Amino acid sequence: MSAGLSIRGLSKAYVPGKPVLRDITLDFAPRGVTAIIGPSGTGKSTLIRCINRLVEPSGGSILLDGQDLVPLRGRALRLARRRIGMVFQEYNLVERLSVMENLLSGRLGYVPLWRAWLRRYPEEDIARAFALLDAVGLPDHATRRADALSGGQRQRVGIARALMQRPALLLADEPTSSLDPRTAVEVMELLTRLTAEEGVPVIVNIHNVELAKRFCGRVIGMHQGEVVFDGPPEAIEPRHLTQIYGGEDWM
Ligand SMILES: Nc1ncnc2c1ncn2[C@@H]1O[C@H](COP(=O)(O)OP(=O)(O)O)[C@@H](O)[C@H]1O
Ligand SMILES: [Mg+2]
Repeated sequence: MSAGLSIRGLSKAYVPGKPVLRDITLDFAPRGVTAIIGPSGTGKSTLIRCINRLVEPSGGSILLDGQDLVPLRGRALRLARRRIGMVFQEYNLVERLSVMENLLSGRLGYVPLWRAWLRRYPEEDIARAFALLDAVGLPDHATRRADALSGGQRQRVGIARALMQRPALLLADEPTSSLDPRTAVEVMELLTRLTAEEGVPVIVNIHNVELAKRFCGRVIGMHQGEVVFDGPPEAIEPRHLTQIYGGEDWM
């Protein structure tokens, strides 16, 4: 059984005959942060959503620590999904719940339903939630409602929630695109530092090439559903950006 994530011949067509992902094959080490860059509509979100099966792949396999996720259904799929944390552009917090309740909901897959309904969570989950709130710089915010937070604070909660489940892999889809430039840098700094400390590999879709280069050890460039660049940030040359984003007139 090989550790990490291995994507083999992945394809996706929402409409038959119009592939959005074409035969993607990629291997990810069990450590480190990988950025996926590319123009809008090129399939970055589709790729990430195929990995956690929010989108059904049309073909290929996705092996996480040796287990193919593609054929999984029902309970087996839910179990596998618990191992994948997700951070969203629009945070996806439950607005009317407290920060603490949002964090604990990251453990919902583990807590029996009746306990979740009664909002009775195990001591160790509550201790972990407080430790994570501390780690993301919000130690005094446990009882604040999510809708009272700024965007940057919300994304910090989003990161803490994704880490609550001790994921084997963390996926982030444009986690900084709704934030101002300075907060975007702070959130990327936090995301990369915490996941390094916890030993969680990260795949992050990111619009901002400079952020990708600054924070990610590996950059994958996509164009029209295909991988056209894969390497360390220092290997990206202007011609690669032309390949990824097309044309030169925009630069
Ligand atoms: N649920 C869907 N149904 C049909 N087409 C979709 C759906 N989601 C995305 N697409 C299409 O797939 C292509 C890739 O989209 P997406 O993965 O969101 O790209 P990106 O994240 O790189 O902007 C786009 O042409 C988009 O319109
Ligand atoms: Mg997208």
